[in-house]
Amino acid sequence: MKTIYIPFEEVKPFLVLPPKAFAFLHLVRFLARNKGYFLYLAGGPVRDFLLKRPVKDLDLVLEGDWKELLPEILKEKGLTLLFQSPFLTYKLKIDEGFTLDLVTARKEIYPEPAHLPKVSPSDFKEDIFRRDFTINALIYGLTPPYEETLVDLVSGLADLKKGLIRPLHLKSFVDDPTRAFRGVRYKVRLRFDFAEEIYLALSEADKVSSFKKLSAQRLINELLLFLFKESLEDLPLLLEETKRLKLLNRTGLVLRKISPKDFEILELALIELSRKEAEKFFLLFLVEISEENLKRLGFSEKERLRLLKWWNYFFKEDSFFKLGIIEKVEVLEKLPLYFVFRLSLEETYREFILKFLKELRFVKPEVTGYDLLSMGVKEGETIGKILKELRRRRIEGELRSKEEELSFVKTLIFQSF
Ligand code: CTP
Repeated sequence: MKTIYIPFEEVKPFLVLPPKAFAFLHLVRFLARNKGYFLYLAGGPVRDFLLKRPVKDLDLVLEGDWKELLPEILKEKGLTLLFQSPFLTYKLKIDEGFTLDLVTARKEIYPEPAHLPKVSPSDFKEDIFRRDFTINALIYGLTPPYEETLVDLVSGLADLKKGLIRPLHLKSFVDDPTRAFRGVRYKVRLRFDFAEEIYLALSEADKVSSFKKLSAQRLINELLLFLFKESLEDLPLLLEETKRLKLLNRTGLVLRKISPKDFEILELALIELSRKEAEKFFLLFLVEISEENLKRLGFSEKERLRLLKWWNYFFKEDSFFKLGIIEKVEVLEKLPLYFVFRLSLEETYREFILKFLKELRFVKPEVTGYDLLSMGVKEGETIGKILKELRRRRIEGELRSKEEELSFVKTLIFQSF
C-alpha cells in the first residue's frame, strides 16, 4: 500500500464547488472524526485533482454508517435528503443545481454476469477493490487514520502517470459490461490509452456473453452518457473507439456507418429537440433501423411497430417521391421530429428533409383565416383549402409577400363568382 501526504490546502483549489459544499464538507469531517469513522474522497474527484483537472462533484465515502451522521447534518445545515439508494448511497441537495453523493464503503458481489451487485457495508480496502479502473480506485482521506493522505492500493498513481486505463481485475467486464463504455469515455476524455488487460477483460466477458446480458435500460443510460456527459467534439472519437472494441456488436447492436455530415445534423437536432426527443434521436443515430436494434434499445412493441411502419413507408415504397412539395411537408409534419431528424441521416432524404427542417416547416402564409373571412370567404372548409394553397405557393416561391397573397386570394374570389 502506497500512501502520500497531500495537505488539503493543495487539493482545495481544484474543487469547483459552491461555498455551501465546503461548509458541508467541514461539518462532515468534524462529525466523522468525532465518531472515529474514516471519511474519504474516492474515484473521479481524486483522479481529477491529481491530473490538475477541475473537480465538479464529490464522491464522499464513509467507512461507517451515514445514518448516524445524517440527522445532525440535515438539522445543522437545513439540507434535504433527495433519496437513498439500495446501494447504501444517499443523495443530498446542497444548493440549487448542486447535489452530493454520500457513499458507504462497501463490497459488491455480482450474483450473475451483467446484473446489479448485492452490496454490503465494508472497509475502505474492499471499497477500493470493487471499483472499475485503477485510476478510479485511488482514495484521499479526510479523517484519520489516513487524514490528508492519498492511499494507493492498486498502482493507480503509476497508471495515472503513464496515462493508462487498466481494469482492476480481468473479470471486471463480466461483472459489469457498462465499465467498457466507461473505459472508452475515460480514454477519450483524458486522451489516455488502454492497458493490455482491457482486451483480456473483454474476452473474459465474451466467454459468458456478459454484454448480451446487459439490460436495455443500463445500455441506453451508458450510451446517453457519450452524448450528455462528454464534450460533443469528442463524440466521433468515442464512437470510433466503441467501434474498434466492437462494443455495440458485443451487446447485439449493429452500429451504423456514421459520416461527418451526420454529426452536423446531430448538432442541429440537439438545438431543436427536447431532451427526451434528443435521447431517442441519438439512440437511432447510432444504429440501423431494424426490429432487432430497436428491441435491444428498449423501444416498446408499440413504438417499434410505429417506427418500422414509417420506415417501410420511406424505404420500401416510393410514394413519398411522387408527392407534391406541400404534401411532402404535411407528411413530415405528422411525424415526431426526432424521427424526421433520423430520416435526414439517410442519403436519399437528406437534402429535402434538411430543407424541411431548416426552412419549409416554418413557411406559413401571412394571410390568416380572419383575413379571408373579412374578404367575404364563407366559414367552412374553403378557408382551409385557400390557406393550404397559399402555403403551397409560398413554399414553391410563387408568392413572396402578404400583398401578393392578398391579390392571389382576390383573383380566386373573383374567379369563383
Ligand atoms: N464505479 C465502478 N463501476 C461502475 C460505475 C462506477 O466501479 N460501473 C466506481 C468507480 O470507481 C467510479 C465511482 O464508482 O470512480 C463513481 O462513479 P461515477 O460517479 O460514475 O464516476 P466518477 O468517478 O465520478 O467519474 P466521472 O463522473 O468523472 O466519469
